[in-house]
Amino acid sequence: MAATRALAKFSPASKALVQLTQTRLAQTAAAPSAQPEKLKKFDIYRWDPDKPGDKPKVQTYEVDLNDCGPMVLDGLIKIKNEMDSTLTFRRSCREGICGSCAMNIDGTNTLACLYKINDNPSKAVKIYPLPHMYVVKDLVPDMSNFYAQYRSIEPYLKKKDVKEEDIGKQSYLQSVQDRAKLDGLYECILCACCSTSCPSYWWNSDKYLGPAVLMQAFRWMIDSRDDYTQERLAMMEDGYSVYRCHTIMNCTKTCPKGLNPGRAIGEIKKLLMNYNKETAATH
Ligand code: SF4
Ligand code: SF4
Ligand code: FES
Repeated sequence: MAATRALAKFSPASKALVQLTQTRLAQTAAAPSAQPEKLKKFDIYRWDPDKPGDKPKVQTYEVDLNDCGPMVLDGLIKIKNEMDSTLTFRRSCREGICGSCAMNIDGTNTLACLYKINDNPSKAVKIYPLPHMYVVKDLVPDMSNFYAQYRSIEPYLKKKDVKEEDIGKQSYLQSVQDRAKLDGLYECILCACCSTSCPSYWWNSDKYLGPAVLMQAFRWMIDSRDDYTQERLAMMEDGYSVYRCHTIMNCTKTCPKGLNPGRAIGEIKKLLMNYNKETAATH
């Protein structure tokens, strides 16, 4: 009754959002069960930069799986809601769309909302932040460099002979075949699981763009509506941006969306070969 009264002051859209959040929280907690407890250990990396002298450590929590949803994110939300509100992680959509819950679980970079809690009773769920990234707090990595690299490839449609003020005034059509070339590329949710599983990216993330950003660079290079393919390739000619990829393919193996960034990088290298030949031919 009190909750209904409290909701009355919200707009219909806000009310719907609050109700959705309440439903989701209820789902995460799952229904209390009369079954015997099915306790599962969660070993979670913790580090709080606001506590002077705090050293990174692993903290263990026990969750009754009878009262918890099936995914690792359900376990994390339950721990945060019911045991330790200081535990910090990112999440938003809970369905593999936003990419914000990327972390290293049981040794694999993946999305906590899509990764099932392992059912081996003697095996704890081991959770760390994405590897080789600076940590903001607990499971939250600093994505600043990753986003700056994404920005650097200008990930949007660029047209020649269209004035700035005319952009967006008309649709640019493409054939069904040209549109199909973007399949397997546009679905990337920029979770960074692939880039942070790549040894080349670990050691050279200041200069090597990494698989996620390169796959998006390729997506724009081959978009039939974009006029800047050559310029986009020219940005990658140095020895680091693309050529630090040694085709180890960790990236493709780990992608929680089943995409193939390793292949996209190979395709950029092929385009660069032609690009270099064309450039050489003009001199
Ligand atoms: S390619 Fe896959 S792993 Fe890499 S950022 Fe995109 S969705 Fe994430
Ligand atoms: S294929 Fe390239 S980008 Fe992918 S993991 Fe290997 S070195 Fe990194
Ligand atoms: S919460 Fe959005 S991808 Fe996991």
